[in-house]
Amino acid sequence: MEKREQLYEGKAKKVFKTDDEQLLIVSYKDDATAFNGLKKGTIAGKGVINNKMSNLLMQRLEKAGVPTHLVKELSDRDTLVKKVTIVPLEVIIRNISAGSFSKRYGVEEGIVFDAPTIEFSYKNDELGDPLINDYHAVALRLATWEEIETIKKYAFKVNEELKAFWNECGVTIVDFKLEFGRLSDNTIVLADEISPDTCRLWDSKTHEKLDKDRFRRDMGGVEDAYIEVMKRLTEHI
Ligand code: TMP
Ligand code: ASP
Repeated sequence: MEKREQLYEGKAKKVFKTDDEQLLIVSYKDDATAFNGLKKGTIAGKGVINNKMSNLLMQRLEKAGVPTHLVKELSDRDTLVKKVTIVPLEVIIRNISAGSFSKRYGVEEGIVFDAPTIEFSYKNDELGDPLINDYHAVALRLATWEEIETIKKYAFKVNEELKAFWNECGVTIVDFKLEFGRLSDNTIVLADEISPDTCRLWDSKTHEKLDKDRFRRDMGGVEDAYIEVMKRLTEHI
């Protein structure tokens, strides 16, 4: 399958049409942004790592009963996916306090919750992706109640699978962001990516950060963290 016209260029990926109306090619870039695009940079080799990691994790999730957009990895940076209409919600699951949760509620990072939490942000760059509840999402016709129930069910299932898997790798999944899409028949599937850009991943023993927070917070060692976490994953998959 070959790339045709470029449909879209996002912060970290480009999307191309193919000769099949139902299929697209996603191409992962090394570009990194944070704080709604205010901070810009490059993480050398990130595109290759995120492409492979996301595909390996989605393959596992498919086996566990979570439908995804993944069709086939085409090359280091390119993957064939099913065309979806993205539901404009960022679905965030948290197992441990960190990031905007810690800031918003004035708590330290690292508090282990008794049960995972879920929240939604309205995917809208102009508004800065504001937090939104499910009633608001339905009122704005971003999704139906039925779709929101399906999305919640899949998101918690993804959490159970990712927690167990990363645990085998000596990595704790603190929180992560998912995006879902609708196929042409309105079936909901997991889309976008699962990578150190979209997850907080801490070394289980030392709590060292092995994710994009190193870039967001100017901590250095960004490339090495992506390489390390990918190495742990490939050793255990
Ligand atoms: P937060 O604590 O900043 O709200 O982030 C929660 C999780 O979502 C974290 O794992 C990083 C991820 N995330 C994204 O993938 N994209 C984003 O735009 C933001 C803000 C967070
Ligand atoms: N990628 C997002 C942005 O540039 C934010 C983030 O991941 O922190 O806005």
